[in-house]
Amino acid sequence: MAERVAIDPTACPAWSTLRREAHRMRDESIRSLLRSDREFLRINAAEMSFDFSRQRLDSAVLESLIALAEQTGVRQAIDAMFAGTRVNSTEGRAALHVALRGRPGDSFTVDGDDVFGAVDNVVGRMEVFADSVRSGAHRGATGERITDVVNIGIGGSDLGPAMAYQALRAYRDPNITCHFVSNVDPADIVDVLSHVTPEKTLFIIASKTFTTAETMINAEYARTWIVDHLGGSSVGAHFAAVSTAEQLADDFGIEQQNVFGFWDWVGGRYSLTSAVGLSTMLAIGPLHFRELLDGARAIDIHFRDTTLPDNAPVLMGLCAVWNRNFLQMSTSAVLPYSRDLAQLPAYLQQLSMESNGKSVRIDGSPVTYDTGAIYWGEPGTNGQHSFFQLLHQGTDDVCSDIILAARPTSSDRQFGGQIDDQHDVLVAHALAQASVLSVGLTREEVAAAGVSEALVPHKVMPGNRPVSVIMMDQLTPFSLGALLAAYEHSVFVQAAVWQINPFDQWGVELGKKVASGIVDDIHQRQVDDPELDPATRASLAALLVRRDQPRS
Ligand code: F6P
Repeated sequence: MAERVAIDPTACPAWSTLRREAHRMRDESIRSLLRSDREFLRINAAEMSFDFSRQRLDSAVLESLIALAEQTGVRQAIDAMFAGTRVNSTEGRAALHVALRGRPGDSFTVDGDDVFGAVDNVVGRMEVFADSVRSGAHRGATGERITDVVNIGIGGSDLGPAMAYQALRAYRDPNITCHFVSNVDPADIVDVLSHVTPEKTLFIIASKTFTTAETMINAEYARTWIVDHLGGSSVGAHFAAVSTAEQLADDFGIEQQNVFGFWDWVGGRYSLTSAVGLSTMLAIGPLHFRELLDGARAIDIHFRDTTLPDNAPVLMGLCAVWNRNFLQMSTSAVLPYSRDLAQLPAYLQQLSMESNGKSVRIDGSPVTYDTGAIYWGEPGTNGQHSFFQLLHQGTDDVCSDIILAARPTSSDRQFGGQIDDQHDVLVAHALAQASVLSVGLTREEVAAAGVSEALVPHKVMPGNRPVSVIMMDQLTPFSLGALLAAYEHSVFVQAAVWQINPFDQWGVELGKKVASGIVDDIHQRQVDDPELDPATRASLAALLVRRDQPRS
């Protein structure tokens, strides 16, 4: 493991300044801040606008946040990531997902070796495969066209493809339906298989390691299902794989030309723009997939080349640090005003929480400050009718990202003239919530509206909840790519300030190991496994007793 010495961000001069600034900001309101010029908090990049003007900070705070970024080496960290340095120090790996979005002529290296040629080669092979499935050249074993694609994967091998499939609904080929199986709960695969026919179904086994228990169990189930229906020789026509472990995919029985590789320098939660996006490419076609990559690339270049104060992902990350460490907010809501982005909060949960849910710095020393916030959310306007009440008047301060598209998806217009009007209502709600959350409503304003004295306190909106508004022109492959890359880099900036490694996930590993021991215990009916704690042994015994009882 490469030796890296961590800086203690709390020992940086800017940290102390920010503490004082936070004290000053306690008496400030976003409402009053908005009376001054906030243009410096609005950034345009990759055809999107990132509006941080409703954050509870002013130019002095931003200056100190930039100073903190400089003092913790954010610029050097960005440069190191783009240079292919092994920034994932605990696993000895680079984190070069930006190379996945490269264009011929771009150069990306790891240990001096150019990696872009290999990336380009895989994208080219994916395109050929996607075209052949979409055109009907690649058919099932009985000669039927492929109409259903089932992506079997979990975590980063599922959340990105599933989210993108829904987000890019308007770009899908109507002749191909994608399904996503992730949970080891048999209900997941059984439900999907009950809606597809073996002759017309292509399975993509997506797993970086090709060893993840949930994925491999589901993959075996699917293979048995195909073999039972179509015979052993049909596996080749009905399976493709996406993995860094190409040999394991081969051993599973997947034909070499249907195996699409990627590399250990692509983290699972950063992998949608790798071959993990194969289902997305099958659904929306190679050209639109290219646009997704181009959107991500536009933000990558902006992130790499723009000075810190004008850099959208840097400001996103620094706002997150400010809200977390100085305004003491432990959760952050993701509120896409787009039904098609319904799965974005779940995607960002993995991206952010698996990356920055860490308590030790890169050199193993414990952090003495808060790190990654809890991310959660739902699309608006639905969320307004469930949890928004707490956001508005609850006792916890929650910061939010409101994401919206200025225009509705073009293809929806073919269903009639009301689409634009309906979209107007949607975006009006987005802007209204951004206003009410941040500006609120004072006692005087409530009283002035003629509200009875007894009701006034109930109708006061404290406001002062920080909101970032991210606006795209339309939800397209390009804007989705840009949005996701902005979040990836924001997560990276936070990690750089906190001096943690956002690219490992050791916390997840122990659970996998313990679960595999319990599976053995269940099979062997062993209730006194000394490896287990007493409560787990008792639960296991209770479970086996229940199973022994006759079914009612
Ligand atoms: O949940 C832990 C994790 O390791 C994630 O980081 C990863 O995205 C997921 O499991 C799936 O891993 P794989 O793609 O190797 O099956």
